[in-house]
Amino acid sequence: MSKCKICNQSIEPFMTFGKMPIANGFLREEDFKNEYYFEMEVGVCSCCHMFQLINQPEREMMFNENYAFFSGTSKHMASHFKEFASHVKNNYLPGENPFVVEIGSNDGIMLKNFADQGIKHLGIEPSANVAEVARENGINTITEFFDKSCAEKIINKTGKADAFIAANVMCHIPYMDSILEGIDVLLNEHGIVMFEDPYLGDVIKNTTYDQIYDEHVFLFSGLSVRNLFQRYNFELIDIEPQETHGGSMRYTLARSGKRKVSQKVHELLEQEKILGLDKAETYNTFRKNCEKYRDDLIATVRAIREKDHKIVGYAATSKSTTILNYCGFTSNDIAYICDTTPIKQGKFSPGVHIPVKANEEFKTNYPLYALLFGYNHKKEIMAKEQDYMKQGGKWIIYVPEVKVI
Ligand code: SAH
Ligand code: TMP
Ligand code: ZN
Repeated sequence: MSKCKICNQSIEPFMTFGKMPIANGFLREEDFKNEYYFEMEVGVCSCCHMFQLINQPEREMMFNENYAFFSGTSKHMASHFKEFASHVKNNYLPGENPFVVEIGSNDGIMLKNFADQGIKHLGIEPSANVAEVARENGINTITEFFDKSCAEKIINKTGKADAFIAANVMCHIPYMDSILEGIDVLLNEHGIVMFEDPYLGDVIKNTTYDQIYDEHVFLFSGLSVRNLFQRYNFELIDIEPQETHGGSMRYTLARSGKRKVSQKVHELLEQEKILGLDKAETYNTFRKNCEKYRDDLIATVRAIREKDHKIVGYAATSKSTTILNYCGFTSNDIAYICDTTPIKQGKFSPGVHIPVKANEEFKTNYPLYALLFGYNHKKEIMAKEQDYMKQGGKWIIYVPEVKVI
């Protein structure tokens, strides 16, 4: 029997996606034989309601000097984080010489906005290659995993922080006790925590099961975040839904009783009750929906391939690893995936080993069909692929349903 990673209650998986590789583990042919796989089962704790992977690979297998995800590859995300930073600065940085700490700061996409204004900041980023890019751009960054002992080192050197911020990283970390103890050590009395991650409510509503992969050990909801932070005397004071990553939620927390709780928090918790995020039957329905979406996508792809039309994958996102492996697509189905990230190009996708190529390949020889793995960057991609559509190119999409457009 497995235990909840938050409250230690027994937990049963409600479904498995089968054997999965490391989602960002793009690899060369000579490494196929040593590729790592794990059984990707998911469950929801009946006590604290945290949605979680039952097993997650060791953190160094995912986050290391070869980490393939560079935040700066999306212009849209750069403007999104500019807004995030202004929100923190305008509402939560009081007085003189405030100090902001970000974990999972990657190539510095968010902290740049503080650094440019001369605000004291520190990025904690264990993946050495992306951290190096941030440092080259003048952003203070240490190459470490954040936890309690890391927080102690920071306060001894730099003092307590006014804001602890994070995007798309809290949901990656299984050892939440040490993270929350670290936050408690790090923040001053009026300090705030602000983080955003893919939102469980959107995953359930839209059956975006591709949000489930090795890095995402948790999918948070208002309910589970409130329960988690309550254990350390922090209170959920505000929430703000976000469109990023196909549906995210921004959570703001403060020490209990220190700040006013927004009405939006109560409304979110009400909506989550209506959606049934606290009920086991919701997840049984979700499992059936996942199976249906998988079967629909397989049928759509196979029907196109039977007519011998070529299909190219567009953007080798982390999420595409779940789709490709769960649907069992191979390079017979998807000829290659085009992606703008140099470190992914010339390699093969995790698990099913579809070649990854530069976007130039797509542009010089348009296929009839492109499977849009980067649907969370749809606006940006549609804007730059006008020519593809003008000459008759079609998109296969699978969110919010499987469709050819
Ligand atoms: N915040 C960026 C990057 C998200 S990717 C964005 O939203 O685009 C997640 C990042 O978190 C990776 O760069 C990974 O190396 C980092 N990370 C993983 N575990 C961490 C930990 N314990 N402490 C700090 N960073 C961590
Ligand atoms: P993500 O969905 O995990 O954030 O990954 C985004 C991936 O999409 C990253 O590998 C870069 C790629 N990408 C493109 O190939 N073309 C694009 O226009 C955009 C915006 C992203
Ligand atoms: Zn629990």
